Amino acid sequence: MKHDLLQLLAARKSGYALERPFYTDPGIFEADLETIWYRDWLFAIPACELEKPGSYVTCQIGAYRVIIVRGQDGAVRAFHNSCRHRGSVICKGAKGNVPKLVCPYHQWTYELDGRLIWARDMGPDFDASAHGLKPVHCRDLAGLIYICLAEDAPDFDAFANLARPYLDVHDLANAKIAFESKIVENGNWKLVWENNRECYHCGGNHPALCRTFPDDPVITGIEDGEPAPHLRAHFERCEGAGLTSLFRMGGSGQFRLARMPLKVGAKSYTMDGKAAVTRALGRVPFDDAGALLKFHYPTTWNHFLPDHSIVFRVTPLSPTETEVCTKWLVHKDAVEGRDYDLKRLSEVWMATNDEDRRVVEDNQQGIDSPAYEPGPYSQLHEAGVIQFVDWYCRTMSDRLNTSPRLAAE
Ligand code: FES
Ligand SMILES: [Fe+2]
Repeated sequence: MKHDLLQLLAARKSGYALERPFYTDPGIFEADLETIWYRDWLFAIPACELEKPGSYVTCQIGAYRVIIVRGQDGAVRAFHNSCRHRGSVICKGAKGNVPKLVCPYHQWTYELDGRLIWARDMGPDFDASAHGLKPVHCRDLAGLIYICLAEDAPDFDAFANLARPYLDVHDLANAKIAFESKIVENGNWKLVWENNRECYHCGGNHPALCRTFPDDPVITGIEDGEPAPHLRAHFERCEGAGLTSLFRMGGSGQFRLARMPLKVGAKSYTMDGKAAVTRALGRVPFDDAGALLKFHYPTTWNHFLPDHSIVFRVTPLSPTETEVCTKWLVHKDAVEGRDYDLKRLSEVWMATNDEDRRVVEDNQQGIDSPAYEPGPYSQLHEAGVIQFVDWYCRTMSDRLNTSPRLAAE
């Protein structure tokens, strides 16, 4: 597989969609997991989801199951959800609150920091300290929890140092989840990303989003030279008010931040363009500052608005199935019915997600046909897609060529 995959990557036609196996083949899906998903930092949850000590959330990435839990000391940690006795899953639910982590099989009991504190009748020579839960790398970036499944995690600081000044003003530590949606798109995870990285499809598919989000390649694409005059004016106004806003890409194209204007007069992603929440989350000094757009491959794109924030998480389930989880964050003291209306807050992106699901599924079905042949991306409207596909192919090639473990397979 490695040989074929490297050949396919080398034979790729730049500026064109990928060959069919990249979107359908179980072997390439496994290679994506091994080469990218099991190695990179992955956005998991907003930290506010773990309200108090003992709050936990579980997630699954490929074959790995993970528990993310807030300890008695307030710190958020992540562990492999596999008991150190005979391997049972420990936390079976999606989320909850527990005083200790107790394995349901033989009740081995772990402290919230992963230490094994009770194991019945294991004899005098048993060393509990050698049987703590296996940790998963875990970082809290301005209220966003990232995890990494690799034994040796790659650098996180370059991303964190770039992102923190953009994010701090949005005060995510004081957020709560107002609404959450999980959908499964019957398409390869790379199709989900390709669709996300362009707005060529927006005019024809997203009537609600297009009320406020500009269908403008300058906003949705990648920076190419000097910003356009209207964008420069927006950046200068925001930066002048202390809002970090300039377009910045880093990590060899793995992440990008930019605070982009919405359509003239629009404040938030609502049907009428007005704010969705009266008790704002964050300290953005004016309500028409637009949306801080952030992406970090391979798991997340985000929109941080003056009144609320929306975080998206992508999880690959199979070669042709991808979960997209969306969480709407508002200030923790905002009250539903008084400060916001749930339908008004969520309806634009609920509709947009469903429209995106449909176009991704249509895309997958057409690619499944033997008649499929990769076509050219629009240089004007799909520069972001070209950027994503280039990042994917470069990352896969580099790692497959240099990994002794993968090379042995
Ligand atoms: S497998 Fe967990 S206590 Fe036995
Ligand atoms: Fe879309």
